[in-house]
Amino acid sequence: MNSSKENIIKGFSKLSREEKIEILTKVYSGDNDLKPILDRYIHPKDQHLFNDISENVISNYYLPFSIAPNFSINGKIYNVPMVIEESSVVAAASKAASFWAKNGGFVARVIDTLKNGQIFFSWQGHIEILREHQDNISTLLKNSCKSISQNMEKRDGGIHSFEFKKVDNMETTFMLLVKFRTADSMGANFINSCLETMTPVLLNYINQSEDLNAFGSAHKIMAILSNYTPECLVECKVSCSISHLAPYAGELPTEIFADRFETAVNIAINDPYRATTHNKGIFNGIDAVILASGNDFRAIEAGAHAYAAKNGSYQSLTRVNMRGNIFEYTLTLPLALGTVGGLTNTHPMAKTALELLGNPSASELMMIAAAAGLANNFAAVASLVTTGIQKGHMKLHLSNLLNALNASEEEKNKTKHAFENKTVSYSLVEQFINKLRS
Ligand code: MEV
Repeated sequence: MNSSKENIIKGFSKLSREEKIEILTKVYSGDNDLKPILDRYIHPKDQHLFNDISENVISNYYLPFSIAPNFSINGKIYNVPMVIEESSVVAAASKAASFWAKNGGFVARVIDTLKNGQIFFSWQGHIEILREHQDNISTLLKNSCKSISQNMEKRDGGIHSFEFKKVDNMETTFMLLVKFRTADSMGANFINSCLETMTPVLLNYINQSEDLNAFGSAHKIMAILSNYTPECLVECKVSCSISHLAPYAGELPTEIFADRFETAVNIAINDPYRATTHNKGIFNGIDAVILASGNDFRAIEAGAHAYAAKNGSYQSLTRVNMRGNIFEYTLTLPLALGTVGGLTNTHPMAKTALELLGNPSASELMMIAAAAGLANNFAAVASLVTTGIQKGHMKLHLSNLLNALNASEEEKNKTKHAFENKTVSYSLVEQFINKLRS
């Protein structure tokens, strides 16, 4: 694209969709006509819904909506909706779900559901004296939010507690950490509205109080929820007798497989490079459920990665525990999810995903997402310590390669048959298709 100043588009948001596309067509360098492609993925009936989700919408970006069936979580079977672009994730999740359904299922529990908000302000005083006022300030701030929090309180949510802190390494920067419970909603709007209502009340209190104001006035810096939610925590585990791991052990004796699996997880506890990839495998499952259910995957990723680094270095979110002949595998992570409000109600497929799950509470969805994460990670680590991942991965990727090569149905069938027991790679598949075509 030409980067000269004449190509800066002024007032883009005010243009109609047609005008937007006309402008983009002038700078578009693709092989096809732009408008027909964009038109093709416009929804024939419900486009207004998608237009309202974002701004400057000119089309929709499709991703597959899949089901990983047979997740047994605390004795209940879920068919889990997953939205993901990576082939093999749904297959791996489905296989692991069926395996664990036969071996005791996923056992999950929500440890707590506290969410956090922060009000930052600058002030010249000491934290100790602020803390002496904490009870008075808490009552005042809670009262200031009565009209916002009364509905949330009816649903067993609301403002939970307050704690003053000094920001590390910043002499005159303080923070009021406010903890909330937000029932079945993710709660971002509730938390931010409360924080913005509380801020002037807090500053006013400090500036009016004789012993606090003696250190000078307090000034607002900012107020916002924190995506670090170490107390909105879910734990999900699987366990079975080591001998039952045979379907994943391949040609290895099950004891050796379990041992290698434990070593792989210990590497991910001690080596951040590996921990990052290991946790990415967990998020293959979790993000797919989060996207399907209309939750905010950036928030979840940010919070869980911060949690993975809580001990000072970035570590695996899973742990293996071998007890005699029992293999136990546990995932613990924060998941601040919602099942009401936001996209969960407005995106028709998010709504359908939640309906397919039986309209779960937010806590139930935390357990389902954690189970999907554990399933995918278990499958990935099991492959890594046995055959490696490429064999299965490239097999499933074959369909994508064939589509990229514009293969006909007949070419697809012939290629799939030919590569049944062969290593799949782009160049080998391309060569094979070229041969068919010549
Ligand atoms: C690929 O999407 C995910 C893996 O790399 C995860 C892992 O290495 O554990 C297979």
